[in-house]
Amino acid sequence: MNIDKGYVDAPVDPALDLKAEILRLKKEKGAAVLAHYYQQAEIQDIADYIGDSLALARIAATLKEDIIVMCGVHFMGETVKILCPEKKVIVPDLNAGCSLADSCQAPEFGRFIEAHPGHTVISYVNTSAAVKALTDIVVTSGNAKEIVASLPEDEKIIFGPDRNLGNYIKATTGRDMIIWDGACHVHEQFSLEKIAELMKQYPGAELLVHPECKKPLQIMASKVGSTAALLKYAKESPCRQFIVATESGILHQMQKDCPDKEFIPAPPADSTCACNECAFMKLITLTKLYNSLRYELPLVEVDSRLIPLAKRPILRMLELSDKLVK
Ligand code: 13P
Ligand code: SF4
Repeated sequence: MNIDKGYVDAPVDPALDLKAEILRLKKEKGAAVLAHYYQQAEIQDIADYIGDSLALARIAATLKEDIIVMCGVHFMGETVKILCPEKKVIVPDLNAGCSLADSCQAPEFGRFIEAHPGHTVISYVNTSAAVKALTDIVVTSGNAKEIVASLPEDEKIIFGPDRNLGNYIKATTGRDMIIWDGACHVHEQFSLEKIAELMKQYPGAELLVHPECKKPLQIMASKVGSTAALLKYAKESPCRQFIVATESGILHQMQKDCPDKEFIPAPPADSTCACNECAFMKLITLTKLYNSLRYELPLVEVDSRLIPLAKRPILRMLELSDKLVK
């Protein structure tokens, strides 16, 4: 089967009930489908597991199935492959990249580490396998604060690649951190002015902000946290309205879990759109998911020499998370 385009480009009968076919193939092949909260609503609804990056890594490490389809971006598929190298790991469209992971290439990151000897290297999960292989501990936005705070107070830390998350962790833990200058183009794009307008329009609303957003937005927030932490906060807060400054896919789960509350997507600058989407995440469609299950392609491959090196800091993260994050 031809996967030159990065996904299976096979014709699909338009009369087919794609959802029913996906469910049939999942069962027939014994495959597990994982989806990130930023996926399209119909992908989230058909997945066996949905979650933030931390939850998906935790789940992947325990799965029994031999075929794992990660509906998310490429580094998420790589994380699964590193944890389960003997399994078939599929991302339905390999073009689903990540601007943040791309902002930190392994050779430059290697030179950065060499220039700062004596530092513990902490990398966000949004990185390539090659960057993880240079890392001591991987973190996600769901555990970065707890993991950094658990290290000895005098430990010198290199943190990469997200400057906003890095500076947030540095400020909240007071640790000695050198931060790589990378960012996510989606989370840096929110318009402070448009959000301030929304806050005037909805004076009772709480602002929920992902730590990949810039500092001024974090300062305005009622809650700064990973997608799972923002979802939890929305469920537990007595407030009825929330302005949500992260990728708008999360609103689907928020609305499902809190049908009587109102969620308003925060808008990006330079756009007439009311919400902010990650185009990489939205590359995964029901048709691509169906074809990927049908042909068990395209597979995520990780250089076998990198696997043990990249696995060690991911396992370290999972071990610390189990102790530190409920
Ligand atoms: P979390 O789901 O860990 O909050 O990650 C956000 C993100 O940008 C994933 O690419
Ligand atoms: Fe990467 Fe940003 Fe998209 Fe997340 S939202 S996958 S960090 S580009």
